[in-house]
Amino acid sequence: MKDLKNDLFLRAALREPIERTPIWLMRQAGRYMPEYRALREKAGNFVTFYKNVELSVEATILPRKLLGIDASIIFSDILTPLESIGMNFEFREGEGPVFLNPIQKPDDILKLKPFKKEDVYYVGEIIKGVNRALNREIPTIGFCGAPFTLAAYMIEGRTSRDFKKAKAFMYNYPDAFKELLDKLADMLIEYLNFQIESGADAVQIFDSWGGYLSPDDYREFALPPIKKIIKGIKRDYQPVIHFTKGVAGFFDDMITSGADVYSVDWMIDLADVKKKLNGKAAAQGNLDPIVLYTSEEVIEEKAVSILKKWGSDTGHIFNLGHGLMPDMEVKKVKFLVDVVKEKSIR
Ligand code: CP3
Repeated sequence: MKDLKNDLFLRAALREPIERTPIWLMRQAGRYMPEYRALREKAGNFVTFYKNVELSVEATILPRKLLGIDASIIFSDILTPLESIGMNFEFREGEGPVFLNPIQKPDDILKLKPFKKEDVYYVGEIIKGVNRALNREIPTIGFCGAPFTLAAYMIEGRTSRDFKKAKAFMYNYPDAFKELLDKLADMLIEYLNFQIESGADAVQIFDSWGGYLSPDDYREFALPPIKKIIKGIKRDYQPVIHFTKGVAGFFDDMITSGADVYSVDWMIDLADVKKKLNGKAAAQGNLDPIVLYTSEEVIEEKAVSILKKWGSDTGHIFNLGHGLMPDMEVKKVKFLVDVVKEKSIR
């Protein structure tokens, strides 16, 4: 399919027959790899790294070379397109992203500039570069952050345990907050279409903080702009993956978004996910990343348990419920990839 040598990931996403379960891992190119740390050193900091096409292509393909995963996710960040609309941010060591001009009042939303895809031309070049470098061996996944998650960072100004500024803004100014979400949805439609035009074989929407809302607030705020994005994506075969962390309380709502694949964390049973999807969409997940800190025996047992929950039908892409962490061992990650490949043969 689609001129690819290994299209297992796409076939599982589109619920076509597969010989084994495909696997890729969120944050698969990251600091846990010495090779990644060397590239980052060369680049300077994280922002100069993801704007450097050559080094970002190298980072993107590292997991293919070192782990043998079935799909590449481009090396970038969910905050990347926000620079174009006038948000200034930096990534601080040990702290994560920090905004220098966070949104503090409804008027600040009016000051946002229109998104220009020329400002993120390097993301398109990275996608083209990865497709060239891997010679179309495996599919390339593009991505973006979900409007709620991006708005949460733009208002909070940094990572937070409870996103209290962002949520208080949402409750105080629901209309302004929805206007911000809608602006972000329009930007992300353009951004994802640009990634698909550049050669992305699939796109994933990361809603890392949507799960911190009540079911009512999820339905009112987080979900509508995601539906709008999915409707606005112009695609031929390219599946859309919708990831939300902490979705157990409103999985029934999440699966109305119109995605092809729903990516879930470990706090929901994959057998229930399968039952609810009822063959109408695929699932991705959902190993607890902490399992990677245990022995190979435990990793194998937990991975096989997830494979068993789905069974031999197509429509499951193995992944973690959230990303790999900087202090994980490459050897253990590789072991997981090998076990999934071996134990899922049909
Ligand atoms: O999955 C991949 O390998 C692709 C690349 C990717 C990164 N970030 C690279 C990254 C993707 C898809 C993301 C998504 C992302 N970024 C999310 C959504 C997924 C999730 O984890 O919930 C979020 C919330 C962000 C925002 C972000 N970026 C934070 C909070 C941080 C700091 C936390 C940390 O781990 O340091 C980042 C930095 C970041 N994004 C790094 C990488 C490899 C570390 C950069 C470095 O210091 O080298």
